[in-house]
Amino acid sequence: MVHTHKLSPRKSLKVVKRIGLGLIALVALLVIFKAFLNKEEPDVFKDIKDTYEKYLVTKDGVKLEEAVVDGQAVDISSDTQKDGEVEKEGEVEELTKEYPLDEEGEPDIYKLNVEFYDLNKYTGLSEGDKEGDYILFLMPLRNAEHVLPMAFFNIMNLTYDHSLIDIAFLVSDCSPEDTTLETVFSYSMLLQNGTLAAKLQADEEEKRNANVQGSSELYKLYMPQDYMENVEKSYLHPEKQHPGFQKPFRSVTIFRKDFGQVIGQGFSDRHAVKVQGIRRKLMGRARNWLTASALKPYHSWIYWRDVDIETAPGSVIQDLMKHNFDVMVPNVWRPLPTFLGNEQAYDLNTWIESDPAIELAKKLDEDDVIVEGYAEYPTWRVHLAYIRKPKGDPNEVVEMDGVGGVSILARAKIFRQGVHFPAFTFLNHAETEAFGKMAKVMKFSVGGLPHYTIWHIYEPSEDDLKKIAQMERKKRRKGH
Ligand SMILES: *[C@@H]1O[C@H](CO)[C@@H](O)[C@H](O)[C@H]1NC(C)=O
Ligand SMILES: *[C@@H]1O[C@H](CO)[C@@H](O)[C@H](O)[C@H]1NC(C)=O
Repeated sequence: MVHTHKLSPRKSLKVVKRIGLGLIALVALLVIFKAFLNKEEPDVFKDIKDTYEKYLVTKDGVKLEEAVVDGQAVDISSDTQKDGEVEKEGEVEELTKEYPLDEEGEPDIYKLNVEFYDLNKYTGLSEGDKEGDYILFLMPLRNAEHVLPMAFFNIMNLTYDHSLIDIAFLVSDCSPEDTTLETVFSYSMLLQNGTLAAKLQADEEEKRNANVQGSSELYKLYMPQDYMENVEKSYLHPEKQHPGFQKPFRSVTIFRKDFGQVIGQGFSDRHAVKVQGIRRKLMGRARNWLTASALKPYHSWIYWRDVDIETAPGSVIQDLMKHNFDVMVPNVWRPLPTFLGNEQAYDLNTWIESDPAIELAKKLDEDDVIVEGYAEYPTWRVHLAYIRKPKGDPNEVVEMDGVGGVSILARAKIFRQGVHFPAFTFLNHAETEAFGKMAKVMKFSVGGLPHYTIWHIYEPSEDDLKKIAQMERKKRRKGH
C-alpha cells in the first residue's frame, strides 16, 4: 500500500527551510572537507622533540657523551657504558693549539682558556690529502641494519688517510625491532680496533653456508655478469690493495635523534608530489642538525655519504676534492636485472637549471617544492645522470645547480657561512637540491662528474621477484 502525503503550505515551508539548512550544512561540510584534502603541509616539525643522545665510540667501548630529553640535559655521570666493558676516554688525538703570549711573555690567560683556531687554515685545499685536511664524514641511517656491512666495508675502503677523518652517524626514526644503533655500536668498536674486516668476512662466510641455494640470492643470476664480477672483486682482499684499509679513524661519533616521517600524516597517494616535498624538508632538517652538531672548527671538508652504495672507488674523497670546487658530486647509477635493461640512473636530483623549470617555478606557489621525476613538474632539465658516457673522461667537470645527497663533498667553510639544506621551500626546492641552489646564490661553485660513477645497491622489488620466479619456473619446465 502506498501512502500519499499531502503537505500543508506551512509544512512545505518547513521542509524547504530544512532542505535549505541541509544544503548549507552540506556546503559547509564540503568546504571543510576540501580544505582538509587540500590542506597544505601538515606541521610535521611540531613532533620533533629536543631529545637526542650523543655517543663516542672507541676501540674500548661506547661512551654516552650527552643526553638531552625535551631540552633538558640528562645527568650521565653514572652508567656511561653501553656494550663496552671499560670506561675510558677515546684516544682522540689532541690538536695543537696556539696560545699567543701577552706583553710580559706569559701565556695570555684569556687566550689560554679560549680555544684558538685560525679558520684560514681550514678552508679546504684541492690536495687536502697531502696537506692534512681534516674531513667530517657524515652518514644518516634509518632501518639500515641489513646494509651496514656493505657501508662499513666502503668506509674502510676509503684511501683518504683515516686518521684525518672524523665519522659521525645519525641514527633516526628506526622501527622498534630494528637494531641499526646496536650494530653501528659494535661495528664502530671493531672498526676502531682494526678487527672489523675479519668480523665482516666471517659473517659473510656464515651467511653463505647457511644459504647454500638460498632463494634470496636467486636474483643475482639475472644481474649483468660484468657488474657482479666487479662487486665480487671489490669485496675481495681490499686490505691487500689498500694498506690503510684497517686503520682506525680519527673518531667515530653516533647521534641518535628522531625527526619523524611523513607517513601517517593524512596524505593519500595522489599527493605523492606534496609528500616528496615534505619528506625532503624533514631530511633537510636532519642533515642540518647533524652538520651543526658534528662540525668542528678544524674540519676543512664535509663528505656526505648514503649508506646504500655498493661500490665506489676508494679514492672517492680525493677524486671529488681535486677539482677545487666548493661542492662536488659524482654520478650515481644502480644495476638492474638484465631483463630490465642492466642499469638505471639513480640520482635525478643533480641537474642544470633550465628555462622551462624557471618559467614553471614562476607559476607555482611560493611554498611549492619541485621534485624531479613527476609529470606535474616537466622541468626539461639536464640531469647529470643522463649525460654520462660509460667510457667518458672521469675527470670531466660540469657545473650543476641542484645536487642529490648520495655523495656530496663540500668545503666546510660554506656551511660556516650559512649554506645549508633548506627545511623550507627555497627557490621552489628543498633539502639537497635547494642546498645546491643556495650555494650557487652565495657564489660558491657547484659541480658534478658525469663520467665518474658510484653504484647504488639494487634490491629487487616484489614485482621483480615475481618476474624472476616466473622465469625460473619456465626454465624448469624446459628441463634446464
Ligand atoms: C677488538 O674488540 C673486540 C670487541 O670488543 C674484542 O673482542 C677484541 O679482542 C678486540 N681486538 C683487539 C685486537 O683489540
Ligand atoms: C674499493 O676500492 C677499490 C679501488 O678504488 C675499488 O675498485 C673497489 O670497487 C672498492 N670497493 C668497494 C666495495 O666499493
